[in-house]
Amino acid sequence: IEIGLFEGEKTQCWAFGSELIKGNPDSLRQIPNSYLGPIIKVRKGQKIRVRFKNELPQKSIVHWHGMHVPEEYDGHPKNIISEGQTYVYEYEVMNRAGTYWFHPHPHGKTGEQVYNGLAGMLLVSDGEEENLGLPKDEFDLPVVIQDRSIDTDNQLVYLDGGRMDSMMGFLGDRIFVNGRPEQELSLKAGCNYRLRILNGSNSRIYKLAWHNGEPLKVIGIDGSILERTKTMPYVILAPAKRIDIWLDLKNKKQGEELELKSLEFESGMMGGMMNGGMMGGSNSHLPLGSEYSLFKIKLNKSGSNEYLLPEKLIPYNKLDPTTAINQNNPREFNFFMQGMQWTINGRTWETTDVAEEEIVKINTTEIWQLSNRGGKMMGGGGMMGNGGMMGRGNKGGGMGNMMQMPHPIHIHQVQFNILERDTSEMDINVWNSIREGIIDEGWQDTVLLMPGMKIKIIMRFSDFKGLFVYHCHNLEHEDMGMMRNYKIE
Ligand code: C2O
Ligand code: CU
Ligand code: CU
Repeated sequence: IEIGLFEGEKTQCWAFGSELIKGNPDSLRQIPNSYLGPIIKVRKGQKIRVRFKNELPQKSIVHWHGMHVPEEYDGHPKNIISEGQTYVYEYEVMNRAGTYWFHPHPHGKTGEQVYNGLAGMLLVSDGEEENLGLPKDEFDLPVVIQDRSIDTDNQLVYLDGGRMDSMMGFLGDRIFVNGRPEQELSLKAGCNYRLRILNGSNSRIYKLAWHNGEPLKVIGIDGSILERTKTMPYVILAPAKRIDIWLDLKNKKQGEELELKSLEFESGMMGGMMNGGMMGGSNSHLPLGSEYSLFKIKLNKSGSNEYLLPEKLIPYNKLDPTTAINQNNPREFNFFMQGMQWTINGRTWETTDVAEEEIVKINTTEIWQLSNRGGKMMGGGGMMGNGGMMGRGNKGGGMGNMMQMPHPIHIHQVQFNILERDTSEMDINVWNSIREGIIDEGWQDTVLLMPGMKIKIIMRFSDFKGLFVYHCHNLEHEDMGMMRNYKIE
């Protein structure tokens, strides 16, 4: 499609054109003049059917990020369809109330397809959430944040930095909100809002904060509402992650302005080389970890609404580690670079391949340990070696350090709880620049694994057997092969 995102030239985008065939018209809302897909609203217990017709010039398949669905409806890359073909999804919504989303998942092309416009929000509600009386309709506001690069003809540019960009992850040089380049939302003074923020960027991590130093009030994350509001100076939002923010404009006056920013932080990759240096590629205008504005909120009108922030939200009943079948022996997954490839335990993507350590049993609870400790499993330094042009002098353990980057790790099919983070081998400056923005509560499906970090998560495999994937949600890392199958049998 062509969208008039800018004056003059139209911008070519790919979009989820959508049509409601049967059901409640409120359940499908297109954001006007945006490339983003419709906002789909569903309720736990509801059965939905989605007919996906591929009219792209390349293969694709749609994945429902965060949703607990049978194998055939998960959008596994093996289920890609060609131009002109149709794939029908039909499933019952089993997830808790939360903010989910959908996007394509063809191996090797996910980054390109999402970048060119293919993503949308999927909002799930349930009875528990309804009892809270959270803001609805115009006061329940989806905010999709993405970075894009635009050329002089106002067209989207992907991977113009060449090899390095595709290896590190694409970084655009301007911020889009809800599929629009203008960074401004118009809200009503005197009202309370629920902002559901999705980081729909391919690789960019944000450190969200209000410009005036007011704390963020977080009420939800990924697949859950939190137990109680978490008041935070800033929130680290990795790609694919969602947070629910309570925005209190009761005491604001018409004409006032707010601004959401991304603050400075250290990403821990390769010292100073990344920022605008030789590895900069397209990111040099808006380096990762620099400070910039995301969008402004203008209070153009005033009004009032009756929504109040409840003191208690929804208990999440964290899984008990003693119920895990591998309580003392977590499954280990190491995310690192080997031979100029992003790998998981040294392996890369193969469509249906599954290793022994990637097979789990249905109706069991397991603990997985995810770690980002560079070259420990690699023999010898190679060109990425210690002190070399891309080296980083961390205490990796004698094997030759290599390129380390943050990896937002996502597991299909489940929502998990975070049990612990081991930060003892992290660069302390990196940790200090993000630690107050980390949320370990609730049910999550993606977790940011920073260089040097180890994270233990716990999850239960239930209802559906089959082949599902887990991967880094830096979409360029994923496309390069940092994705593997796991099998529930
Ligand atoms: Cu958001 Cu495997 O996906
Ligand atoms: Cu997913
Ligand atoms: Cu990664």
